[in-house]
Amino acid sequence: MFSILKSFLFNLDPETAHDLAIKSLKYNPFPSKMFEVEDEQMLNIELFGKIFPNPIGLAAGFDKSAEAYNSLLKLGFGFVEVGTVTPLMQFGNPKPRIFRLEDDQALINRLGFNNDGIETIKARIKSNRKKGILGVNIGPNKETKDQKNDFCLGLKNFFDIADYITVNISSPNTEGLRDFHDQKRLVDLIVTLNKIKKDNGTNIPLFLKISPDINNSYISEIAETAIKNNISAIILTNTTNSNRDNLTSEFKKEKGGLSGDPLRQISTNMIKKFYKELNSKIPIIGVGGVNSGKSAYEKIIAGASLLQLYTAFVYRGPSTAKDIKKELIQILKAEGIKSIKDAIGKGV
Ligand SMILES: Cc1cc2nc3c(=O)[nH]c(=O)nc-3n(C[C@H](O)[C@H](O)[C@H](O)COP(=O)(O)O)c2cc1C
Repeated sequence: MFSILKSFLFNLDPETAHDLAIKSLKYNPFPSKMFEVEDEQMLNIELFGKIFPNPIGLAAGFDKSAEAYNSLLKLGFGFVEVGTVTPLMQFGNPKPRIFRLEDDQALINRLGFNNDGIETIKARIKSNRKKGILGVNIGPNKETKDQKNDFCLGLKNFFDIADYITVNISSPNTEGLRDFHDQKRLVDLIVTLNKIKKDNGTNIPLFLKISPDINNSYISEIAETAIKNNISAIILTNTTNSNRDNLTSEFKKEKGGLSGDPLRQISTNMIKKFYKELNSKIPIIGVGGVNSGKSAYEKIIAGASLLQLYTAFVYRGPSTAKDIKKELIQILKAEGIKSIKDAIGKGV
């Protein structure tokens, strides 16, 4: 059925297709049972005091303004991350700003944090009780004078309605944002956010989302900073500015972040490196080119406890999470592994 829908959607420009998908998803009439799979309990995983029904999450950027998260949860995702949310609504960069690289099973985007802003999104979440695990990804406005303060506003507004907050320092489309990977700035940011948590008496988990384009020397510094300052999880990775040479699609030279299959190995390598540095003290959420049970398993044995995806959802459609869950269970059975927990880091 999706193949007919897909040929229709793929005839539209990617952003129109995305907006239409969000609009129709709001009315997702399918029961969640339809997207559960046999033996799904093999994929259960408990982290941060919550039971994730399965490790396949929907990554930030798809439901930027929190319009469809309950419908997305119904499609069988183990958790959904909305955002990136900035304090004020913003339109983002001029269109076109998303490009489908079909032959490469990839996307390039330079959206620039288009979203409805904290106030609207907060009200939306409050009026639509979440029916599963919901993360809110926060970031700064393009025109802000104080990026750190924008992160503070994000945390203050969402700590009591989200299951976790992702501190997004890794989008390539907001100037200066990736500078927060520098140790001094990172420590300053996290210490400030932790103080807000303390002042508000909350223990909301803070996740840190990292760029795949950092120099190796940053890895141990970031891992050390995260451990020392009680970061709850590291998300690896956001989109990449690199790796264009081997692409075949006509859009390969477009400016923006590359996601999907060409990012898969880059992010898996990053997971392996962080897994060694973190020494099991902080769980990793693996993201980048997850598009099958095999690619999901690769990231789990590289050290990821949970996964997220975006680009595969565009190419594989509504049954993406269900199909990957099925394939992953098959792999676990073939490997003689009873629970996904036992596979984490097995390949490192
Ligand atoms: C169109 C698009 C928009 C995105 N927007 C965001 C965003 O707002 N915030 C964020 O942290 N990541 C964003 N991402 C990055 C994804 O969350 C994810 O890290 C990346 O796409 C790699 O996963 P994938 O290969 O499964 O797509 C976006 C990705 C795409 C393709």
